Amino acid sequence: MKIVGLAIFLFLSILALSVSRQPESSESTFAGCLIRRSEPSYPISSAIYFPSNSSYSSVLESYIRNLRFNESNTPKPQLILTALHESHIQSAIICAKYHGLQMRIRSGGHDFEGSSYVSDVPFFILDMFNLRSINVSIEDEIAWVEVGATVGEVYYKIAEKSNIHGFPTGTCPTVGVGGHFSGGGYGIMARKYGLSIDNIIDARLVDVNGRFLDRASMGEDLFWAITGGGASSFGVVLAYKIKLVRVPSMVAIFTVERTYEQNLTDTVYSLLQIVDKLDGEIFIKTTIDVVNDSHRVGKKTIRATFLGYFLGDSTGLFSLINLRFPELGLKITDCTEHTWIESIVRWNNFPIGTPVEVLLNRVHPNLQHLKRKSDYLKKPIPKQGLKSIFKKMIKLENPLLKFFPYGGFMSEISPSEKPFPHRAGNIVKIEYGTNWDENGIEAANHYINLTRNLYNYMTPFVSKSRGAYLNYKDFDLGINHNGQKSYIEGTAYGIKYFKDNFNRLVQVKTRVDPENFFRNEQSIPIFPSIGSQ
Ligand SMILES: Cc1cc2nc3c(=O)[nH]c(=O)nc-3n(C[C@H](O)[C@H](O)[C@H](O)COP(=O)(O)OP(=O)(O)OC[C@H]3O[C@@H](n4cnc5c(N)ncnc54)[C@H](O)[C@@H]3O)c2cc1C
Ligand SMILES: *[C@@H]1O[C@H](CO)[C@@H](O)[C@H](O)[C@H]1NC(C)=O
Ligand SMILES: *[C@@H]1O[C@H](CO)[C@@H](O)[C@H](O)[C@H]1NC(C)=O
Ligand SMILES: *[C@@H]1O[C@H](CO)[C@@H](O)[C@H](O)[C@H]1NC(C)=O
Ligand SMILES: *[C@@H]1O[C@H](CO)[C@@H](O)[C@H](O)[C@H]1NC(C)=O
Ligand SMILES: *[C@@H]1O[C@H](CO)[C@@H](O)[C@H](O)[C@H]1NC(C)=O
Ligand SMILES: *[C@@H]1O[C@H](CO)[C@@H](O)[C@H](O)[C@H]1NC(C)=O
Repeated sequence: MKIVGLAIFLFLSILALSVSRQPESSESTFAGCLIRRSEPSYPISSAIYFPSNSSYSSVLESYIRNLRFNESNTPKPQLILTALHESHIQSAIICAKYHGLQMRIRSGGHDFEGSSYVSDVPFFILDMFNLRSINVSIEDEIAWVEVGATVGEVYYKIAEKSNIHGFPTGTCPTVGVGGHFSGGGYGIMARKYGLSIDNIIDARLVDVNGRFLDRASMGEDLFWAITGGGASSFGVVLAYKIKLVRVPSMVAIFTVERTYEQNLTDTVYSLLQIVDKLDGEIFIKTTIDVVNDSHRVGKKTIRATFLGYFLGDSTGLFSLINLRFPELGLKITDCTEHTWIESIVRWNNFPIGTPVEVLLNRVHPNLQHLKRKSDYLKKPIPKQGLKSIFKKMIKLENPLLKFFPYGGFMSEISPSEKPFPHRAGNIVKIEYGTNWDENGIEAANHYINLTRNLYNYMTPFVSKSRGAYLNYKDFDLGINHNGQKSYIEGTAYGIKYFKDNFNRLVQVKTRVDPENFFRNEQSIPIFPSIGSQ
């Protein structure tokens, strides 16, 4: 008996050793489960990166778009699965459920809180960048877009086939379709055509049971939820079908800069009186920042950059602005004309003449540490208010303030049409932002604090029930621990992002993912079961 016992002991020890040396080959691990499940025609092991694989760090870092989460103490995934085939996603869900391992889904990695590639509990990343085909049909005026594509690639692929078709979406070319389309998708054509979600007509999704669903088989409630409610609470989206929109063959842009000394208060005051009331063809983005005062050595001043976009020509743009917003002092020489695709390049501040292929670049040109917050402005800010905000910004030095115009078609869409509720009654969306270069927690605390200070300072000027935009993810609004209190915790951020649509999202979530497998710091919770409140 003793010898048998020893033999068993030895056998188990060797087994344990081999398990710890080759986790990928053991069926009792998550990776082993992935390998066992994978179909021979779509081998999965070449898509699995363990920390011991030499490319692990570079794969992890290639889609980190916020350097705040590129620190040595940032929690790292147990493995990264760079899905090569849809069956890999099925396996990922089924094996992660079985092994109780948390999954983070990453498409373009632009999440402002890093929630697509960071978690405080053990986790792995399902990375979608290999699944990025885009099929455009000009005849049907539609396209199927896989989630790993970037919006730059979407722009490029449409323009390759037509110069009079476009799509209303964000303008930063590296932003991923997966996160961006599922959370809204706001860009320069929003006042004419709404958000990306207002132009999505179908989707393909893998649900918690590993089933492939399209709009017809998932039903209208779930389709509604993954077009604005953030798909990461509901499943893994594979692709979206989008409806293309018509654009003129030439569009016009202007850029105007003004400093505080150039009547900036009056100009911004006038802007807020009219910017949401202009025709849908026109879009004015205003960026306000703090710069060195060129007239007073060592002093700071406020600068505003007004960027205008017009679905029409320079003459039309010039006369419209001079009629409705003469305070800007626009000159015809401030305006330039471009094809629609060139206008996207220009809007991103690339020099005139930059080839449109720049939109295909997957390497972000200027990575920094970032913090973002958002608000909605419902009443114009009085002149005294603007002056005091500018003074506060000079005192804080770093935070940016951006105004993105609403109105136009945005006002015509019902707030319950999609989970995204911020429609009529908004003048602008406000983005608060801080960018910095220094690593470390001290720098992060300092700059995040500045952003919060400016946000707090704005309290009297924005609506009492402050709203927020899901795609500008902000953990200050509340965190979910996904335990007993998850519904109550979810209400804190859920109401800000979704207002009256929150409970409908919870209803869908409770039906399609009752065990709350698809969860993160700000996911949609399930309704509390009776007795657990
Ligand atoms: C430089 C920069 C510019 C930006 N510009 C704009 C802009 O012009 N307009 C605008 O509206 N927003 C803008 N944003 C915000 C952007 O829309 C969001 O960060 C968006 O979520 C990014 O999508 P992603 O796929 O790149 O991000 P990811 O970090 O990959 O994902 C974001 C979230 O979506 C989830 N997710 C991703 N893919 C899937 C999937 N396939 N299935 C289910 N869940 C998924 C993730 O788990 C995560 O919760 C910008 C952000 C940055 C950093
Ligand atoms: C990572 O290493 C394991 C062996 O430890 C190997 O099976 C796997 O294919 C490697 N992954 C990649 C993407 O090369
Ligand atoms: C991210 O961190 C790694 C490891 O410290 C570093 O090598 C890399 O340069 C960082 N990325 C960027 C863009 O700074
Ligand atoms: C695009 O078409 C190719 C070839 O038919 C197909 O393999 C791919 O899955 C399609 N992509 C989408 C997003 O439908
Ligand atoms: C500022 O406004 C005043 C009065 O409205 C005007 O006289 C002056 O020319 C303006 N200055 C600039 C730089 O626009
Ligand atoms: C602004 O001025 C400071 C010194 O007061 C200098 O260090 C900094 O480089 C200047 N910034 C720019 C953009 O010129
Ligand atoms: C954050 O800002 C507040 C208010 O200005 C200040 O009192 C506090 O010291 C700051 N904290 C940090 C960590 O910078």
